[in-house]
Amino acid sequence: MLYASCLLLVASLWLGRASGDHVPRGTNNTCTVAPLGEGQDDTDQIEAAIEECGHYGTTVFSEGVYNVTRKMTWDLVASRVDLHGYLNFTADLPYWMDPANTYRVIFIQSQASWFVLTGSDFVVDAYNTGGIIGNGQYWWNWYGTGSRLDGDGRPVALTVYQATRGTIANFRIEGQPFWCNAIAESQDVIYDGMYCNATNTNPEYYGDNVVPNTDGIDTFRSDNITLLNWDITLGDDCLAIKGNSTNIYARNITCRGGNGIAFGSLGQYADLFDHVGNVTLEDTHMVRLSSEIQPNMGSGVYFKSWSGTRIGFPPDDGGGGLGLVTNVTVRDMLLNNVSIPIHLYQTNGALPGDAPSKLQFANLTFINVTGSTTGNTIVDLQCSSAAPCPGMVFQDINVTVPSGQTPTYECSNVVSEQGLSGCNATAQS
Ligand SMILES: *[C@@H]1O[C@H](CO)[C@@H](O)[C@H](O)[C@H]1NC(C)=O
Ligand SMILES: *[C@@H]1O[C@H](CO)[C@@H](O)[C@H](O)[C@H]1NC(C)=O
Ligand SMILES: *[C@@H]1O[C@H](CO)[C@@H](O)[C@H](O)[C@H]1NC(C)=O
Ligand SMILES: *[C@@H]1O[C@H](CO)[C@@H](O)[C@H](O)[C@H]1NC(C)=O
Ligand SMILES: *[C@@H]1O[C@H](CO)[C@@H](O)[C@H](O)[C@H]1NC(C)=O
Ligand SMILES: *[C@@H]1O[C@H](CO)[C@@H](O)[C@H](O)[C@H]1NC(C)=O
Ligand SMILES: *[C@@H]1O[C@H](CO)[C@@H](O)[C@H](O)[C@H]1NC(C)=O
Ligand SMILES: *[C@@H]1O[C@H](CO)[C@@H](O)[C@H](O)[C@H]1NC(C)=O
Ligand SMILES: *[C@@H]1O[C@H](CO)[C@@H](O)[C@H](O)[C@H]1NC(C)=O
Ligand SMILES: *[C@@H]1O[C@H](CO)[C@@H](O)[C@H](O)[C@H]1NC(C)=O
Ligand SMILES: *[C@@H]1O[C@H](CO)[C@@H](O)[C@H](O)[C@H]1NC(C)=O
Ligand SMILES: *[C@@H]1O[C@H](CO)[C@@H](O)[C@H](O)[C@H]1NC(C)=O
Repeated sequence: MLYASCLLLVASLWLGRASGDHVPRGTNNTCTVAPLGEGQDDTDQIEAAIEECGHYGTTVFSEGVYNVTRKMTWDLVASRVDLHGYLNFTADLPYWMDPANTYRVIFIQSQASWFVLTGSDFVVDAYNTGGIIGNGQYWWNWYGTGSRLDGDGRPVALTVYQATRGTIANFRIEGQPFWCNAIAESQDVIYDGMYCNATNTNPEYYGDNVVPNTDGIDTFRSDNITLLNWDITLGDDCLAIKGNSTNIYARNITCRGGNGIAFGSLGQYADLFDHVGNVTLEDTHMVRLSSEIQPNMGSGVYFKSWSGTRIGFPPDDGGGGLGLVTNVTVRDMLLNNVSIPIHLYQTNGALPGDAPSKLQFANLTFINVTGSTTGNTIVDLQCSSAAPCPGMVFQDINVTVPSGQTPTYECSNVVSEQGLSGCNATAQS
């Protein structure tokens, strides 16, 4: 036994020396991939390239469209991927909706993923000529105006899971069927340049929001995440900051349609504490689209928790969870005809008679919010009576209401507030 392990040790030392000073296999390898062409399946060659060069190497995808026919994980370590082309995830909906054909690495709401990036110290650059084709229109047509359920298996387009020190740059996602991005259980990740576009072009659904759940990104159990230069067209939450998202910095984010930037929903899991802290959003821009294309442009930023009563269970129901959201700064937000610029409510999914939420929102700061709204309510904070909100700070809030209307600012269960001309009061016009 001892003799055998000595031999192994000697052998591995020798092999290490022979292969050049303990350099991990694959170091400085470069793999190149080109699309095989119409009717061919690129999945095998993509997986083989990442397998060979995904650790300590570089993988270069030339421009073009790659046919991806099954779920795929890229495990990248000290590695670079130049993705000049698009990964086209087939429009075979019944295939993807079979739970065996997607991953379920995102704990919250058991969401499905068809493509997962994991690992450490990597860069994936898509040069604004590549990314993901999600074939969203097939998905939106499939459901039409029918209801959809969280966790029903519609895949997240790009999932970053258990990643550390990764960069995703200049990435385009065309037609996300569901959430465009999710990041879970990760830290020190930078997204610089992200484009997502969920635009229905089927005239049958003009005027309806047939692209619900096409969120720009959901963050969960992640720390120190930077989002720069995003352009998202969608019908839901542009950014959704979910439980245990800390030290999140976003700058230059354009949201076209949808609900605005969300904190939540929080408190869906009765047995989990949702902690959200140190979030800064700078230079965000909400743009209302034509109502034919996308009827909703909800808020600039909004905060939502479930009530204090659990009704059913996730992924679709739940509530009763505790939590704390603190130290959020929203600075330089420009609004184009949103419905309610700044909104907070703690009754997501609630029924009359539910207990008030005990999840607290504290220390929220809003500086330089300008532009226009379609209603007259500029700020509507409906904090829970069981967890009133301290430290609400407003500075340079100047949003134009439709002519002839008087701007109003509503605060319920707010412990302390500065900068508004009195909550619950109607401001002087
Ligand atoms: C890898 O390539 C870089 C640049 O060509 C070089 O500086 C480095 O020494 C190489 N590393 C190894 C382990 O060969
Ligand atoms: C993708 O590959 C499959 C074979 O697995 C093939 O049937 C299909 O036609 C290909 N799709 C495209 C768009 O090339
Ligand atoms: C992507 O694949 C779908 C079939 O799954 C095909 O209809 C579509 O044309 C492809 N997109 C591009 C840009 O090649
Ligand atoms: C946050 O992540 C970035 C990018 O990886 C890194 O440069 C920075 O040091 C991290 N910050 C902290 C406090 O760890
Ligand atoms: C999103 O896609 C639609 C339909 O293809 C297109 O008209 C629109 O210009 C795109 N939006 C952006 C911001 O590129
Ligand atoms: C903001 O992001 C967009 C891409 O979404 C980019 O085109 C633009 O140059 C960025 N603006 C600044 C000031 O960096
Ligand atoms: C958030 O972190 C706290 C402390 O580590 C933990 O107790 C809680 O369960 C976590 N919540 C979620 C949603 O993971
Ligand atoms: C928020 O930032 C402060 C200052 O950098 C730091 O001390 C604190 O730990 C951070 N909070 C969280 C939840 O990371
Ligand atoms: C609040 O968060 C910001 C970063 O978003 C950080 O710089 C600051 O130190 C935090 N403040 C506290 C009191 O934690
Ligand atoms: C307020 O924010 C807008 C962008 O929304 C920016 O153009 C303007 O310079 C900011 N004003 C100040 C005083 O920083
Ligand atoms: C809000 O901020 C103040 C001042 O930084 C701090 O003392 C307090 O603990 C914070 N409140 C919460 C609930 O984090
Ligand atoms: C508010 O915005 C309007 C129109 O954008 C502008 O005319 C007005 O001077 C601004 N008011 C303040 C107090 O900045």
